[in-house]
Amino acid sequence: MPVIELHSPEPSPGSEVLQRLSAAVTSHLSMPAGQCWVLWRQVDEGEAYRPEWADRSSGRAPIGFVTCKESWSREQVGAVLRLLAGLLATELSVPEQEVYLTARRAAPGELLVRGGLWDGEQTPAPVVAQPIGTVVGGRREVADDDWGKERAVIRLDAATYGPEALFGLDSFSHVEVVYHFDRVKVEKIETGARQPRGNKDWPLVGIFAQRGKNRPNRIGVSRCRIVKVDGLDVHVEGLDAVAGTPVLDLKPYMTEFAPRGGTVQPAWSTEIMRAYY
Ligand SMILES: C[S@@+](CC[C@H](N)C(=O)[O-])C[C@H]1O[C@@H](n2cnc3c(N)ncnc32)[C@H](O)[C@@H]1O
Repeated sequence: MPVIELHSPEPSPGSEVLQRLSAAVTSHLSMPAGQCWVLWRQVDEGEAYRPEWADRSSGRAPIGFVTCKESWSREQVGAVLRLLAGLLATELSVPEQEVYLTARRAAPGELLVRGGLWDGEQTPAPVVAQPIGTVVGGRREVADDDWGKERAVIRLDAATYGPEALFGLDSFSHVEVVYHFDRVKVEKIETGARQPRGNKDWPLVGIFAQRGKNRPNRIGVSRCRIVKVDGLDVHVEGLDAVAGTPVLDLKPYMTEFAPRGGTVQPAWSTEIMRAYY
């Protein structure tokens, strides 16, 4: 879901264009790629009446129907319709104001997908996060190991924060950094199981039983040493995020928040971390 049906007297613009529409919608909704289907129906002019379609001198904009779950909010539906109208105008070289789109909602019990009848269980509304700052400096390329000595700066967004947001952070030795893996493409997100780093010697483990970057929501959590705090800048060592990474939150590390009692982990995870820091 969603399913997008486009009707037009023009022939299909081709599967690559339809695939781009699908990818833009899934990316906008932070859904795994491939979960939005697009159908193009070329209608015979004798079977359709739309005054704008009589004029063949310019591109003829399609009429479209977007079928989505009834649980989608008005805002979600509106945003997808606007996104699609803009994309169709660009891809088909047609006036955006002539693209007609409407949503159709599938009621609980009336949608069979991936072998199951959707029972209307509410999907939680998407959470939108505003980065508090950005990683400046440090490593530029996404690479697996040797993060221990890497130095970088986390710079708060000056439009929203002043230095007071960091007062007292320098009395802690370490900070926990929550950040967004913005270099991971939506189509690379893993929702099931995979071998960590694609290594055939390691077991197949669920995405939530590993810390790989290609995960739903693309959220990274790193604990690193504070070198110094200076105005809006937190200088850190051992942050495994590349330059330009959006930072979502900072929290001082407190021993008491570490696990109580001993910890256990499988052999592959110890192996993967051997050269990490
Ligand atoms: C395995 S993940 C673990 C990150 C974090 N410590 C965690 O546990 O959530 C770290 C990898 O993400 C990659 N990475 C860093 N910044 C990134 C970004 N902005 N987008 C995508 N990948 C990134 C790095 O190459 C690094 O090896």
